[in-house]
Amino acid sequence: MLPDSEWLSRQLGLAVLWPGVSSVLLLVFLAISTWVLSRVITSVHRYYINCQRLRCFPQPPLQNWFLGHLRLIDSNEEGLIRTVQLVNTFREIFLMWMGPFHPLVILCHPDYIRPLTSASANIAPKDKIFYGFLEPWLGDGLLLSKGDKWSHHRRLLTPAFHFDILKSYVKIFNQSTNIMHEKWKHLCAGSSTHLDMFEHISLMTLDSLQKCIFSYDSGCQKKSNPYISAILELSSLVACRSKQLLFFWDSLYYLTSQGRRFSRACHLVHDFSDAVIQARRRILDKHGCDSYFSSKDKGKTMDFIDVLLLAKDENGNTLSDKDIQAEADTFMFEGHDTTASGISWALYNLAQHQEHQDRCRQEIQELLRGRHPEEIEWSNDRPVIPRDDLSQMPFLSMCIKESLRLHPPVVTVTRFCTKDIQLPDGRIIPKGNRCLINIFGTHHNPSVWTNPEVYDPYRFDSNKSQKMSPLAFIPFSAGPRNCIGQNFAMSEMKIVLALTLLQFRVFSDGFLPQRKPELILRAEGGLWLRVEPILNSSSPGLHRLETPQE
Ligand code: HEM
Repeated sequence: MLPDSEWLSRQLGLAVLWPGVSSVLLLVFLAISTWVLSRVITSVHRYYINCQRLRCFPQPPLQNWFLGHLRLIDSNEEGLIRTVQLVNTFREIFLMWMGPFHPLVILCHPDYIRPLTSASANIAPKDKIFYGFLEPWLGDGLLLSKGDKWSHHRRLLTPAFHFDILKSYVKIFNQSTNIMHEKWKHLCAGSSTHLDMFEHISLMTLDSLQKCIFSYDSGCQKKSNPYISAILELSSLVACRSKQLLFFWDSLYYLTSQGRRFSRACHLVHDFSDAVIQARRRILDKHGCDSYFSSKDKGKTMDFIDVLLLAKDENGNTLSDKDIQAEADTFMFEGHDTTASGISWALYNLAQHQEHQDRCRQEIQELLRGRHPEEIEWSNDRPVIPRDDLSQMPFLSMCIKESLRLHPPVVTVTRFCTKDIQLPDGRIIPKGNRCLINIFGTHHNPSVWTNPEVYDPYRFDSNKSQKMSPLAFIPFSAGPRNCIGQNFAMSEMKIVLALTLLQFRVFSDGFLPQRKPELILRAEGGLWLRVEPILNSSSPGLHRLETPQE
């Protein structure tokens, strides 16, 4: 026996056992205690070293040693105002503590964002802590996957967003917008009416996406549809969950009524996408790939499911049904709310600035004057004919970009550093830390933008914007994990806004909406604008726009 082991055995109640057994148990106990102690010492040492290395970054005064800066973070108007104040003070980079053990490095200047966004996806992968709640819904789709799976899928999916594919969606954007306008005209009943932009535009973007991804017309803008209701419910449940600390534990969350609703809605959404994929597989088996896709050449739209079914890497590997489902669900999620937020805030900014609204309207009217819709072609097919409508709306594009700057739909993205990241001033973000690229903060940073709070589309005048850092304006993030759908989103936003401005005047009634950053930037209680139909806006050219190669 070891010295003093008798005493220890007595304390641990092992003395009653046979001496041999008690010695073995004692040794096991000592081994476990040594291991636990060494783990604790290593963690404390690592924590101490990390704190020392992070000391080079400024931080706002700690409100409380336990909560750290948690009380400075609010998903509301005050939270955004505080972000702007912090950015005004620190300008480039600063540190915040999410409780006593979780530092967060916040970046809000292009020069400091660059080392992170230009790092490979393995060195600065996405941080799952902020996206974990989406996993049961989106599976291992592009937004959440990582490592080799992500890079393989990103390569396979990039062609799905090629302009040749996107051009076939333009007709869908036009149709869905026209359905929304019919509803608006009906609600206006000859004069004008107040509408919550988010409510109407989210339904319209969902309608468009369901047609682009699945070729499925649910008529959701006219009557409620279970699949669309489930997607809206999932988005609002995820936003709710992220505000309730207790619900962070899966085992507790799924016992609550919210958790059960979440599971039910997930099943419904998965069943829908699975049914479309299985039906498409059956058609392909019956008719063969060639005959099915040649029918698409004859006027039918090639949807995302088709593109995903056809996707093949250089070794001939295709995507499994489960992969296709995860990607389709991810596009539905990533594509609807973000674009709806972009369009809604753009209309809000144009309502606040009637002079810019009038100029946009004039630009579109001039572009479409005397045209018949059938004349408007895709520029790629006829490069000599300058009919690429969307690239010919420079002022509308400037207004959209300025709105995405002032009201970025995605306000932050996070990364986890698996290696030390060197900053331009020589400081280092130590490996093992989380970073938050503050898109909203960068877009409102006075060191990056003059008068950042002013809505001024002329900042994006091509002469001026050439001088701007490419990372000063990052609504779609940047680097290898930027938004794969940005051309899709820009085309949809231009079409919806152009058609809306041709048919309606939009006004704000002077009240300032309270911004609400959830999964996307919303407005508390909705974003209400007054819309007024423009009479005689029914000439044929006003109903359809086409999209070009950018
Ligand atoms: C105005 C509209 C949009 C905005 C502002 C936007 C913004 C973003 C941002 C900031 C990211 C990076 C997220 C991160 O790093 O955590 C992202 C990623 C992504 N977006 Fe978008 N998005 C928009 C529209 C769309 C659309 C229409 C689609 C698809 C139809 C889409 C699909 C995706 C996907 C799949 C990713 C993940 C890419 C990857 O990790 O490789 N987005 N988006």
